[in-house]
Amino acid sequence: MNSPEGSTIIRVEHLIKSFDENVVLNDFNVSLEKGKNLVILGRSGSGKSVLLKCIMGLEKPDSGKVEVFGKNIPELNQKNLDAIRKKIGFLFQGSALYDSMTVKENLEFPMRQEINKNSRNEIDERIKKALKSVGLPGTENMMPTELSGGMKKRIGLARAIIRNPEIILYDEPTAGLDPVTGKEISHLIVEIQNQYNTSAIIITHDISCAKIAANKIVVLENGICKKEGTYDEMLKSDDKAVKQFFE
Ligand SMILES: Nc1ncnc2c1ncn2[C@@H]1O[C@H](COP(=O)(O)OP(=O)(O)OP(=O)(O)O)[C@@H](O)[C@H]1O
Ligand SMILES: [Mg+2]
Repeated sequence: MNSPEGSTIIRVEHLIKSFDENVVLNDFNVSLEKGKNLVILGRSGSGKSVLLKCIMGLEKPDSGKVEVFGKNIPELNQKNLDAIRKKIGFLFQGSALYDSMTVKENLEFPMRQEINKNSRNEIDERIKKALKSVGLPGTENMMPTELSGGMKKRIGLARAIIRNPEIILYDEPTAGLDPVTGKEISHLIVEIQNQYNTSAIIITHDISCAKIAANKIVVLENGICKKEGTYDEMLKSDDKAVKQFFE
């Protein structure tokens, strides 16, 4: 069953995560409400990817809460963690498509455990729908090497939505793209939010992406949530940590 409108579906509280002496997240707090896009702005190395990994249960926090759908991720056993991961789509930093597989095989990959249970036709239909949603219908048989950077991102997006996730985590969705293509991808993120009623965390340092896609923005600096607000509120902020992104 999907979460009710307006409910908090990700709640990170007092999250501390370090690697040896390097304290990356140092009492970080953030929440994501159902149906919203939350943008996390942070400089390179600020801990954005580490945060997403804590949410996915790929990194274990030193302390603090990482609740997804009301369940504290670090406390879950593998079975319950897998059940939550099924409801989360992930767009990896740099798309991470398998070069030796066709577009179709790349999209089938997250569904590999379901393929026996579902009919072939249903899988094909899902792939077709996802490719249409990202504006690349009919590209099933192409190889990743034949795709431009922007097209790869779109296929990465199609793979993130293929299982109708409730949550999508985007790690740098516009990195490495020219500004025009970056804007197209940002608009696509909003279209996906509307079409699939997803809630998303978007990690970026692209202010144009934040402007287009964010319902709420937080700035991550020195391991904490430095500031939180809408795009317009952030634009007016005098905080140095915030201003650096808007100049
Ligand atoms: N597995 C790990 N082992 C040790 N240190 C790590 C590990 N993963 C991340 N770090 C460190 O944590 C810090 C934050 O890394 P992270 O990848 O989250 O940065 P980021 O904000 O995503 O940066 P970018 O914008 O460049 O992707 C860095 O100092 C990095 O070296
Ligand atoms: Mg990163």
